[in-house]
Amino acid sequence: MAPSASTKKKRAIFIGIGVTLMLVVIIVPISIELSQEKNEPRSTINNRIECFPFKNMTSDTCTKAGCLWEVVSGQPSCFLPDTSVYGYEVNGPVTNIPNNKGFSVDLRRRRSADGTPLFSLYGNDVDEITFEVNYHTDNSLGMAFYPKGANRDQLRPPVAITVPSATITNQRYEAKLVNTGIGEPFNFQIIRKSSGVVIFDTSMGGLTVSKQFLMISTTLPSEYLYGFGENTHDTFLHDMNYRMWPIFTRDISPIDEDVNLYGAHPFYMVCENDGSSHGVFFYNSHSIDVTTMPNPGITLRTIGGMLEFFVFLGPEPESVVKQYSDVIGRTFMPPYFALGFQLSRWGYKNTGEIQQVIDRTRAVQIPHDIQYADIDYMDGRRDFTIDPVNFGDLPALVDEVKKGGLRFVIILDPAIANDYETYERGVALSVYAEWANETLKPDDQPTENNIIIGNVWPDNKTAFPDFFRDSTKQWWTEEIRLFYERLKFDALWIDMNEVANFDTNQYSDKLYCPPNQWDDPPYETMAAHTGPTNRLSDKTICMVAKFGEKNDERLNYEVHNLYGYSQSIVTQEAARQVLTGKRSMILSRSTFAGSGKYTGHWLGDNFSNWKNMADSIIGMMEFNMFGMPYIGADICGFVLNTTEELCERWMEIGAFYPFSRNHNVKDAIDQDPGVWPDTVAASGRKALNIRYRLLPYLYTLFYDSHTTGSTVVRPLYHEFSQDRKARSIDKQFMWGPALLISPVLQEGKVSVDVYIPVDVWYDYYTGIRVTVLGSTTLSAPRDHINLHLRGGYILPAQKPDLNTMLSRQNNFELLVPLNDQNSASGKMFWDDGESVNTIEDGLYQINKFELSNNVLTITVEKESASSWPGIVQKLDTIEFMGWPSPPLKITVQSNVAEDIIIIDSDKYFYVAESKRLTLLYEFDMNQSYTVKFE
Ligand SMILES: *[C@@H]1O[C@H](CO)[C@@H](O)[C@H](O)[C@H]1NC(C)=O
Ligand SMILES: *[C@@H]1O[C@H](CO)[C@@H](O)[C@H](O)[C@H]1NC(C)=O
Ligand SMILES: *[C@@H]1O[C@H](CO)[C@@H](O)[C@H](O)[C@H]1NC(C)=O
Ligand SMILES: *[C@@H]1O[C@H](CO)[C@@H](O)[C@H](O)[C@H]1NC(C)=O
Ligand SMILES: *[C@@H]1O[C@H](CO)[C@@H](O)[C@H](O)[C@H]1NC(C)=O
Ligand SMILES: *[C@@H]1O[C@H](CO)[C@@H](O)[C@H](O)[C@H]1NC(C)=O
Repeated sequence: MAPSASTKKKRAIFIGIGVTLMLVVIIVPISIELSQEKNEPRSTINNRIECFPFKNMTSDTCTKAGCLWEVVSGQPSCFLPDTSVYGYEVNGPVTNIPNNKGFSVDLRRRRSADGTPLFSLYGNDVDEITFEVNYHTDNSLGMAFYPKGANRDQLRPPVAITVPSATITNQRYEAKLVNTGIGEPFNFQIIRKSSGVVIFDTSMGGLTVSKQFLMISTTLPSEYLYGFGENTHDTFLHDMNYRMWPIFTRDISPIDEDVNLYGAHPFYMVCENDGSSHGVFFYNSHSIDVTTMPNPGITLRTIGGMLEFFVFLGPEPESVVKQYSDVIGRTFMPPYFALGFQLSRWGYKNTGEIQQVIDRTRAVQIPHDIQYADIDYMDGRRDFTIDPVNFGDLPALVDEVKKGGLRFVIILDPAIANDYETYERGVALSVYAEWANETLKPDDQPTENNIIIGNVWPDNKTAFPDFFRDSTKQWWTEEIRLFYERLKFDALWIDMNEVANFDTNQYSDKLYCPPNQWDDPPYETMAAHTGPTNRLSDKTICMVAKFGEKNDERLNYEVHNLYGYSQSIVTQEAARQVLTGKRSMILSRSTFAGSGKYTGHWLGDNFSNWKNMADSIIGMMEFNMFGMPYIGADICGFVLNTTEELCERWMEIGAFYPFSRNHNVKDAIDQDPGVWPDTVAASGRKALNIRYRLLPYLYTLFYDSHTTGSTVVRPLYHEFSQDRKARSIDKQFMWGPALLISPVLQEGKVSVDVYIPVDVWYDYYTGIRVTVLGSTTLSAPRDHINLHLRGGYILPAQKPDLNTMLSRQNNFELLVPLNDQNSASGKMFWDDGESVNTIEDGLYQINKFELSNNVLTITVEKESASSWPGIVQKLDTIEFMGWPSPPLKITVQSNVAEDIIIIDSDKYFYVAESKRLTLLYEFDMNQSYTVKFE
């Protein structure tokens, strides 16, 4: 059901004298019809666009500024008048782009009878602009508002995207300029032709284009709104009651729900009432604020660049994400070992402690693929150094553990201490971010050069590499190569790349950004408003830092959100060069739209508490929507001491994070599973063995994601978008279409309230078909995480082991839960797990599985000997669930042999109570087979 307005939390982000504290809920959701009516003047409640979000307005100051003042509980008091007064109007004919590829039209600001523009909110509005709509494909289009005659490339973020292009043959949308007469208010709609639903609609007004303040509002066709990150969301489905979220990368823990976190993903999705979905990408890298409205609608505000959007019409939720990935790029293919379980902490005192953790993990038989070292291993916390006293023997340990198949990952921070050779080599190549303007350089900065100096983890001051420069790429790659000669890491973890700087404004007044139009824009932004000292530069470097090559310089103001993104590109390329031919894995804290091509992400410095564990599902589902499926939270929590029960439950859910790592803060108690052998380790081992068994399925989901853009972790909404209840489920999640995961998220509970959509489902453990669908409660003892397989899908599996080097040598299995037609299908992707570009070079195998009419076919659809570096492996177990009655005879025929083999009746077992059929027979993975059941 749609959440009712009365259950939503109120946020006092608008400040009107007299209403601030008394936000009584009186809002009745307005019916959908209203939002679809054309040319309706906007209602005075539930879709108010606030004029000055962070200012204390009074009736007097508000009306003097040109806005309307009316105090209504739960609504902004000072809000914009409608399009008859504010915004833009048509100022020329509509010009069609040839081949039915769209249109453009000139607009100018609304003006009074004497021809002078009416009023401006923050000044310097652009009087004449062009609005252009580009039909990219039948299912996607772009639109942009830009100053007439402007060079659009200079207004775009330096982020490579691919504009999709195809002949328009069966256009699924109508893009409609509602008024075309000169002087009529601008009003634009996008309509889904199949249903007539208006998915984008600017009739409520508010359009603003100025150099430092841009705003647009749209009505939404339903209140099922998802996406926009990176924020801490306590619900997957957004609260539509005038909530505001900032999008601006910052080094911050999730103290409050309404603050900006590490990444910037200006993308949303809406599920329309009939279950069709669409998505919208706001292609802008400045600080952005998103405000929801109950009517329902949203307002987007930003402080630079262009209002430019890509719209995707799906209509299936998965199609929307795929269409978005066509533009921003598809995820990197992780190496197989990166799907294994990983252990880390900040605060290992020496190599011996790392060895102890490895031993303790092995002693409790927990699978372990990657061990990390955080900044502790460095000498004085300087990148590319090793503490000679406590970690001098780390390279030897790395060499030793790698023999058994364990991999090693080290952390790198971008900030470089200004007291050693790495820094000096960078100065020589001119790799560091500099002050854009000498007059804005604070006194305490060095006088000999223009490099921005700050303060991060190293004891001495630091400089910040500018990853937009080619010289930086050369230097960074070389430093990584030099370090690899000392320590044979397998992948790189890049942290603190928002970019974090401790000193700015907060801890000392020395590195204080002098007031200027970039550090203090006319529209404050919520990121600044909620920062420790109310400035954009809080915890980072000044907005007047400059980045980029000499001929293409950008202010930090424009590209701040791209620091981690630019570092990820350069680091991935460096790792590929250094680890010749080996696929690496990069893990970045700060990300932007498109980062998934280069890096994975963890959800940051979460707390060890039950709420943060529950919220991790939301973060994980959102990052899959953002094209970054390699995602997970720190298992057992980062900040604070975990508890045994929390850690046990977190190991269970964490076994189903695509990125599965237990990581901990300095000075907290140890939380690796070996600390609690009988509880955390026992339950963790049980869950991780299931993960390892299902890794071939997970790996195949990553292959699909890499090649088609589909998600790996999926909300129920994506598979059951017609089911209104499923649209709001955020305490359960799926792996692809076939596995439902329902963890316990509350302390002291040994049962779990779940929602099981109408379909065929089987309990993973017993193979018994689920009889109670819908909302129900399942038993969940401390060592049990509820898992259900969906009928109709075949999942490839493999016997688990203590790491993936070992498990990859084991025999394969198939899990075959039947649907009501007694059929099922699936596939498996397999390659050597670690070479680069196996997919691009065709060095992989695809096996297809299909069950129907009592015949199972196993087909080698694409063969590759390089997938089997040792001997060709076997598939030796097939588990069917929901098999109607015991077979009398099973025969097998291979594509390379004439004979039909009758399988001995002691090679299969049927359990009538659970309707489970187990077939034990050795199939070669490089042969095709037909298996008949009679
Ligand atoms: C706005 O009003 C609130 C409450 O009256 C007050 O605490 C706050 O300091 C005011 N802010 C500004 C910027 O004047
Ligand atoms: C900081 O840099 C100075 C100058 O290079 C050096 O003498 C000093 O040892 C450094 N301090 C630390 C703590 O490394
Ligand atoms: C540098 O900043 C000063 C002070 O804000 C300003 O007056 C001047 O125009 C700026 N110079 C450049 C080249 O941007
Ligand atoms: C903590 O968890 C929430 C929910 O997954 C997520 O949104 C956030 O990114 C995580 N990290 C931090 C620092 O909040
Ligand atoms: C964590 O536990 C340790 C050991 O009991 C204790 O010294 C420390 O203060 C605790 N930390 C917090 C944040 O509670
Ligand atoms: C399967 O692999 C084995 C060993 O590499 C090889 O001898 C055999 O010809 C392959 N069979 C098929 C059908 O490709």
